[in-house]
Amino acid sequence: MPASAEVQTPPLDEQPPPQQFVEPVPQDEVKVSIRNLNFFYGQTHALLDVSMGIPNKAVTAIVGPSGCGKSTLLRVLNRIYGLYPGQRAEGEVLLDGQNILDRKVHLPWLRSRVGMVFQQSTPFPMSTFDNVAFGVRLYENLRKPELAARVEESLRSAALWEEVKDKLDRSALSLSGGQQQRLCVARSMAVRPEVLLLDEPASALDPISTAKLEDTIVSLKREVAIVIVTHNLQQAARVSDRTAFMFLGRLIEYGTTERVFNNPRTARAADYVTGRFG
Ligand SMILES: Nc1ncnc2c1ncn2[C@@H]1O[C@H](COP(=O)(O)OP(=O)(O)OP(=O)(O)O)[C@@H](O)[C@H]1O
Ligand SMILES: [Mg+2]
Repeated sequence: MPASAEVQTPPLDEQPPPQQFVEPVPQDEVKVSIRNLNFFYGQTHALLDVSMGIPNKAVTAIVGPSGCGKSTLLRVLNRIYGLYPGQRAEGEVLLDGQNILDRKVHLPWLRSRVGMVFQQSTPFPMSTFDNVAFGVRLYENLRKPELAARVEESLRSAALWEEVKDKLDRSALSLSGGQQQRLCVARSMAVRPEVLLLDEPASALDPISTAKLEDTIVSLKREVAIVIVTHNLQQAARVSDRTAFMFLGRLIEYGTTERVFNNPRTARAADYVTGRFG
């Protein structure tokens, strides 16, 4: 071997993997741009300098071990954390270019644009119809037939209409767990949001209900940007276009789901997606 070869940098596959590998989302696809986001629960620094783009009309999965900051990230995106004293965010979250962390942002306006569905379904103790109509009545002044049409449209988009159309006036609490979760999706969709946040929406569901919810998610992305937190890597692989892997409050790896699962560039993401830890 010539002497000069000894001082050349080693080939790529022998170099140590990068600590972080974040692929940019093309600017014309970005719906939400998160820039240098830090988040604090009092003294606890829960998100460290997270920057990523969330694409429009696509599903973005957030994965990573328990406590890495997945739910915290979602809670920033609709500013629900603002209800709790001592919790604060620094940085920028641009929704169509507007920083939603700005104090001047009108919160009802933000919440009507960014809907959220939680791990435990949270139907209100009222009829199925009134659950779905709830936000619409809050934000819009629709006449009765228009409201009924909106409720039907929303239940259809959540793939629940056929199961509940004959019992819309019955209590939503009488629905099954999987139906209740899709009801929560319908309730969020009824106000026609642009971003839908889902925090482990299928963790309490059986495989059939999970499959229905996943179909719903895939069809809804025609209309909205969806961000889903999941512990289920197969689920992330099935429904998402992009996957973000977080670890201890940092964004470690982000890119197309196919690339992150088949060719992870960071050691931590590789360990996680191959099931070596998590
Ligand atoms: N209300 C709170 N007060 C103080 N610290 C909190 C609070 N909620 C979360 N944290 C801390 O912030 C970090 C991130 O929590 P977060 O709930 O975002 O994790 P996660 O990735 O959603 O975890 P899991 O997969 O278990 O749901 C953790 O260290 C957690 O202990
Ligand atoms: Mg969580």
